Amino acid sequence: MANFLKLKQFLTLVLILLALAAKSSKSTPSPSSTTRVKGIYWIENPLFPPSSIDTSLFTHIFYAFVSPNKFTYKLEEEEEDSTTVATSLTTFTNTFKTKTPPIPTLLSIGGATSNSTLFAFIASDPTARATFINSTIQVARTFGFDGIDFDWEFPTTTKEMNDLGELLFQWRRAISDEATSTSRPPLLLTAAVYFAVNFFLSGERRMYPVDSINKNLDWVNVMSYDLLGSGSNVTGAPSGMFDSKSNVSVVSGLFSWIRGGVAPEKIVMGMPLYGKSWKLQDPNVHGIGAPNVGPGPGVDGGMAYFQVVDFNKQMGAKVVYDKETGSVYSYSGSTWIGYDDPFTVSVKVGFAQALKLGGYFFWAAGYDTSDWKVSTQASKAWRPE
Ligand SMILES: *[C@@H]1O[C@H](CO)[C@@H](O)[C@H](O)[C@H]1NC(C)=O
Ligand SMILES: *[C@@H]1O[C@H](CO)[C@@H](O)[C@H](O)[C@H]1NC(C)=O
Ligand SMILES: *[C@@H]1O[C@H](CO)[C@@H](O)[C@H](O)[C@H]1NC(C)=O
Ligand SMILES: *[C@@H]1O[C@H](CO)[C@@H](O)[C@H](O)[C@H]1NC(C)=O
Repeated sequence: MANFLKLKQFLTLVLILLALAAKSSKSTPSPSSTTRVKGIYWIENPLFPPSSIDTSLFTHIFYAFVSPNKFTYKLEEEEEDSTTVATSLTTFTNTFKTKTPPIPTLLSIGGATSNSTLFAFIASDPTARATFINSTIQVARTFGFDGIDFDWEFPTTTKEMNDLGELLFQWRRAISDEATSTSRPPLLLTAAVYFAVNFFLSGERRMYPVDSINKNLDWVNVMSYDLLGSGSNVTGAPSGMFDSKSNVSVVSGLFSWIRGGVAPEKIVMGMPLYGKSWKLQDPNVHGIGAPNVGPGPGVDGGMAYFQVVDFNKQMGAKVVYDKETGSVYSYSGSTWIGYDDPFTVSVKVGFAQALKLGGYFFWAAGYDTSDWKVSTQASKAWRPE
C-alpha cells in the first residue's frame, strides 16, 4: 500500500511536470519534421550479432565505435588492412539495409575510452581536421552507412568547445559537398554529448557550441545517464529524472540544453539499459543515499537490465519506485541496484515527448531482456503524432 501511494504521488508529480512542459513549449515553433528518433547503440559482440536486434522497435542503429589513427588522423578502417573490422562493418550495415523498410545506420566515432587529446588536436588543426573529415565520409560511404555520429568524451576547455563548433561546421560543409557531387542524400551528422549543456561539476566551466550544433547537426544524443558513478559512497539513481538537491538529473540536464538554445527537436534523450549496484554498509539502511562500501555485482557494479531482472527474481529482491528521483531500485541482503525499468522508461519517454524532443536512444543493444521489455515499452510510450 505504502509503495502504491508513493507511486501515485510520483505519477502526480510527473503529470504536473508534463503539463508545465506542454505549456512552456507553446512559445517555440513546432518542428516541421515528424521523424522521431528511437535509437540504440550496438557494441561489437559476437554473442549479440546485429541480426539479434528487433528492428521494429528502432529507427536508427549506431555502430560503436571506431577511432582515428593518432598519426594520420584517418579512421583506422581506412588506414589498415583490417579485414575483421571491415567484415564487421559490412555485416552490420547489410543487416539493416535488407529490412523492410531499411533502418538507417550511423558510424559512431570515439566513445568513453577514446583519446580526448587526439580529438582536441584534430578539431584545432585545419589540416588534420580536413583529413579526418574526409576519412569519416569515405569510410561511412564505403561500408554503406547512412550517417556519422561523433562521441568526443569530452572537450575540456572553452577553446576545445569552440574548436568542436568549427569542426562541426567544416564537417557539415564536406557532407553537403559530397552529397551534391555524388547526387546522393547527405549523410546524417550527429553527436553524443554530456547530460547538460554546461560542464559545471569539475574542470573549467564550459558550454557546448549551441549555434554550431543547431546549424550543423541533425541532432545530439544527450547522455542522460551515468549521473552517479559506482565510485559514489552512497546509493543513488544513475539516471534519475529529478534531484531536489542538485542539478544532476535527467530533467535538469534536458532543460539546460533547451535553455541553452538548442532546438528541442534536435535533442534526443539517452536512457540506460543497465543499472549500477553497490554493497550496502548496513543491509537495514537501504534507501536512496544509503552508505555503501563499494560496487556490488557486475563489472565495477555495472549490470545489464536482464541481469538485474534475473537477480531480482533469484534473490526475491524488494523493488521500490522512488518518487523523489523518479527512478527504481531493488535490494536484497547487502546488494542494492539503481536502474531503469519499463515503467520509469515510459515516464521518461512521455516527458521527452511533452518537451517536443526529437526522440530517445538507448545504450546499449544486448542489455535488455531477450524479449525487449524496456525497449518495447519505450516504443509504445511514444504516442503517435
Ligand atoms: C592520444 O593522442 C595524443 C595526441 O595525438 C597522443 O600524443 C597520445 O599518444 C595518444 N594517446 C594514446 C593512448 O594513444
Ligand atoms: C577525400 O580526399 C580524396 C583525395 O583528395 C578525394 O578524392 C575524395 O573525393 C575525398 N572524399 C571526400 C568524401 O571528400
Ligand atoms: C541549478 O541551476 C540553476 C540554474 O542555473 C541555479 O539557479 C541553481 O542554483 C542550481 N541549483 C543547484 C542546487 O545547484
Ligand atoms: C561520502 O563522501 C563525502 C565526500 O566525498 C563525504 O562528505 C560524506 O560524508 C561521505 N558519506 C558517507 C556516508 O561516507
